[in-house]
Amino acid sequence: MNFLDEQFAIFHQRSLPEKMNFFKREGRLFDVVYAQQFDRALLDMVYKITNSLRQIAKTKEGLIYLQTILGHKRAMLYFNQPSSRTFLSFQNACYLLGMKTSEIRDPTISSEVKGESMDDSLRTFSSYTDLLIIRSQAQNVSARASWLLNTFSKRPVPVMNGGSGSDQHPTQGILDIYTLQRSFEEQGGLDGKTIVLCGDLKRGRTARSLSDLLKNFNDIKLIFTAPKNFQMREDILASLDQHQVSYKLETENLRNVLAEADAIYMTRIQDEHDTFSGESGLIDTSKFKLKMDDLPLLKKNTAILHPFPRRDEIDVQIDSDPRAKYWRQERNGMWTRTALIAYIFNVHLEILDYYQAEKSYE
Ligand code: CP
Repeated sequence: MNFLDEQFAIFHQRSLPEKMNFFKREGRLFDVVYAQQFDRALLDMVYKITNSLRQIAKTKEGLIYLQTILGHKRAMLYFNQPSSRTFLSFQNACYLLGMKTSEIRDPTISSEVKGESMDDSLRTFSSYTDLLIIRSQAQNVSARASWLLNTFSKRPVPVMNGGSGSDQHPTQGILDIYTLQRSFEEQGGLDGKTIVLCGDLKRGRTARSLSDLLKNFNDIKLIFTAPKNFQMREDILASLDQHQVSYKLETENLRNVLAEADAIYMTRIQDEHDTFSGESGLIDTSKFKLKMDDLPLLKKNTAILHPFPRRDEIDVQIDSDPRAKYWRQERNGMWTRTALIAYIFNVHLEILDYYQAEKSYE
């Protein structure tokens, strides 16, 4: 352990509220590291900005206006684990607001290959840019980047977690909730709904972050549907208990719970986190997939989501069913991430004002 490892270990042992406070600047959200940083009021604000942005971006004038908002800022995307959606949606979120982007998607082409530590690399990225967006195979890289820059750098920049290990994917959870809310617009909103989460819940950071964010809603019921070895971990269940969120575990068959679902959140097996080759293949997951012949068991308006990438968890024929929301879900990622960046840089009120003014001319 070097000095920084020791100091970060001390920081990491702090309570969650203390760490969440650390990720703020002048009382406002600065670094987006954990799903737990978001309460209902903050989520509502992000979604209000999202809805305004979407409307503004419908016209060429609106798109040109948005590009002036952060045209003086630059973002760095440091993705040392593969990604399609998170990378592209963040990159295009930056473009929508006029930000220029740099990227390193492969540590073998950064100076890490010459022996530079990740800490030094992170500080280097922050030297050139105004925002650091990070995807990492290892847990806590975003938390460490935020701690490192806020503690040692004379020029700390905001850090946004684009997925860290098998633990956290807060911006995915935010886009998932936005998609759920839009899906339930005609059914009284997300409060009171039953959400089935299915797949590798133990190592699925998207399911973990979504579950944690759902505690901000009223009378939600969660059904964690997975083979015993892939069930939701105790830390999330304890957090749900603490917030009196109702949940149950289904370990036999997805079909047993389909009739109850207002939404189904399918996930793939996260075998990139296997401790030995072929580990995941030892577990029978065949009863935890959504098939065409399952559709008659669903309610008329059940929303089907998947954070993607998918393998065979959802039959591709289901894509044309109106209940399948996953293609619009991935697009929602770009809008919610744009809103979040605008909020972090405190330019969201300007966007809301612009939208109100444009609306009043209609
Ligand atoms: N949902 C998600 O994180 O997808 P990518 O791995 O493609 O970014």
